[in-house]
Amino acid sequence: MDLDLLGIVSRWLHIGSAIVLLGGAICLKFVVGPVLQNQSQELKDAVRGRWKRFVHAAIAGLLLSGIYNYIQALPLHRGDGLWHAMVDTKIVLALGVFFLASVLVGRSKGTQKFRDNAAQWTTISILLGLLIVAMSGLVKVVGPKPKAADPAAEKVDAAKP
Ligand code: HEM
Repeated sequence: MDLDLLGIVSRWLHIGSAIVLLGGAICLKFVVGPVLQNQSQELKDAVRGRWKRFVHAAIAGLLLSGIYNYIQALPLHRGDGLWHAMVDTKIVLALGVFFLASVLVGRSKGTQKFRDNAAQWTTISILLGLLIVAMSGLVKVVGPKPKAADPAAEKVDAAKP
C-alpha cells in the first residue's frame, strides 16, 4: 500500500483549519458576541486580539493545504467540467471569506465600515463558509471518478468487469 503521507497531512491541515475558521465564526456570532454586547470596548478588543491569531493561522493553513491539494488534484480532473466549476468557484468564495475574516479582526481605518457592521458581515462569512463546505463535500462524491494517474492502474481498471 502506497502511503501518501504529505497528502494525509495536507487533508488534516485543510479540514482542521476550516473547522477553526468556520467553527470560530459561528461561536463568535452565536455565543461570544451576544454575551459581549454590553461589555467594555477593552474586553471586546481583547477577544478580537486573541481570535485574530487563530484567523491568521487558519487562513495560512487553508491556503497552504488548498494550493497543495489543487496542484495534486489537477491532473486527475483534466476535462472534468463539474469539478472545475465547483472547486474554482469555491476558491474564489474562499478568498472572499479570508478577506472578511481578516478585516473583521484588522485595525485599518479603510476597513472600519466592516467592523461597524461586524454582526452582519460575520453572518455573511458563515453562510459563505457553509456553502464552500457543501461544494467541497459534493465534489468529492459526485461527478466522474478521478482519472488514474498511473497508466498501469488504468489497464487494471479497464480489465475489471
Ligand atoms: C473557507 C475556506 C475553505 C474551506 C471551508 C474549505 C473546505 C474544504 C473541505 C471541507 C474540503 C473537503 C475535504 C475532504 O473531504 O477531503 C475541501 C477540499 C478541497 N479544497 Fe478547500 N476549503 C477552503 C479553502 C480552499 C482554498 C483557498 C483552496 C485552494 C487554494 C482549496 C482547495 C481545495 C481542494 C483542491 C480540495 C479537494 C477537492 C477534491 O476533492 O477534489 N480550498 N475544502
